[in-house]
Amino acid sequence: MSQITVTYPQGFYPIYIGRNIYATLRETLADKSYVVISDSNVAPLYAAQFSDALAHITFPAGEQHKNLQTVNDLYSQVLAAGLDRTGTIVALGGGVTGDMAGFVAATYMRGVNLVQCPTSLLSMVDSSVGGKVGVDLPEGKNLVGAFKQPVMVLVDLETLHTLPADEFASGMAEVVKHGVLDNPELFAWIEQNGHELAPAHPFMEALVTDAIEVKRATVQDDPFELHGKRALLNLGHTFGHAIEQVSGYAVKHGFGVAMGMVVAARISAELNHSDSTLPTRIENTLNKVGLPTRIPAHLDVDEIIAAMGSDKKKMHGKLRYILPRELGECFISADVPTQLIKQTLADLSM
Ligand SMILES: NC(=O)c1ccc[n+]([C@@H]2O[C@H](COP(=O)([O-])OP(=O)(O)OC[C@H]3O[C@@H](n4cnc5c(N)ncnc54)[C@H](O)[C@@H]3O)[C@@H](O)[C@H]2O)c1
Ligand SMILES: [Zn+2]
Repeated sequence: MSQITVTYPQGFYPIYIGRNIYATLRETLADKSYVVISDSNVAPLYAAQFSDALAHITFPAGEQHKNLQTVNDLYSQVLAAGLDRTGTIVALGGGVTGDMAGFVAATYMRGVNLVQCPTSLLSMVDSSVGGKVGVDLPEGKNLVGAFKQPVMVLVDLETLHTLPADEFASGMAEVVKHGVLDNPELFAWIEQNGHELAPAHPFMEALVTDAIEVKRATVQDDPFELHGKRALLNLGHTFGHAIEQVSGYAVKHGFGVAMGMVVAARISAELNHSDSTLPTRIENTLNKVGLPTRIPAHLDVDEIIAAMGSDKKKMHGKLRYILPRELGECFISADVPTQLIKQTLADLSM
């Protein structure tokens, strides 16, 4: 089992990464009462491992249920289970579960303890670390939320065996992103061996640990997203979100991020900020783990550009782009000509 400690202004928490590690919760929580919140896919698979919970609370799986109506139902069920202010909420599932159960933990009785048990690759390496929790509004994603640091994160790699293959690939986009951002060795390993990656792979623990470490270092430098550092985690996301949105969310998040990273790399090379071989290396590595790097031709380039303009990550009304300078180093630029973006998107369409 590997361990990473995350510190934040008021404290710290451990992240444990290993296989069959949920018993750690019982050892650590001792006699404290807790409820488990998971979605309808994950609950039947893993909730039984938390046999001494006050209740197993389940909501329907899917981003469309990450909203205040579901939160309202969850409050009622947590209350009915008898959880008081000293209790703990265990979020067992992917990023939707972590964000929403985390939001419930941040607000129920002005806040109770939260344990994150991420079961999707994306939630392991990304959403369960950093303390951002929240839900969607009809007007847009993640518009209501809070910062809620967990008391512990349990990453059980065994759960990845049941994760659908496209969800695994989608999570790998964030792993590759973390390599490009801050860990060239991690990137190089995937570049060489990515095609053989699978949940049972012996390198999985090291890969997930390294990817989490990049997120830890980034959020620890900028716990409340006040300066630029944390924004680097949006590499590939401004373009990726726009592609997802224009596709009506037929393009999965990680797939959009993969395409977006290639757009960013090509733009960076074109503007002479990076070596001309970088875009190809990033593209080949993404392909190696089963990620697409071409934008579906039926998605209109102008619509993608328009969707980028509505990205909530704008600063003072101006879009900022995260561009790779080299493997392990990215920077923020506000100076990318729209014409170049348009041309790059068009070149990648097929
Ligand atoms: N808080 C943050 O910092 C942060 C960062 C990135 C993303 N997010 C959020 O995370 C969400 C996406 O997370 P996600 O991709 O994990 O989505 P998800 O939670 O919807 O999980 C994806 C699918 O996989 C299923 N699943 C999860 N684990 C499984 C397992 N082990 N076996 C079988 N099925 C399993 C889920 O039921 C779901 O159908 C989005 O809502 C996004 O906004 C938050
Ligand atoms: Zn992402």
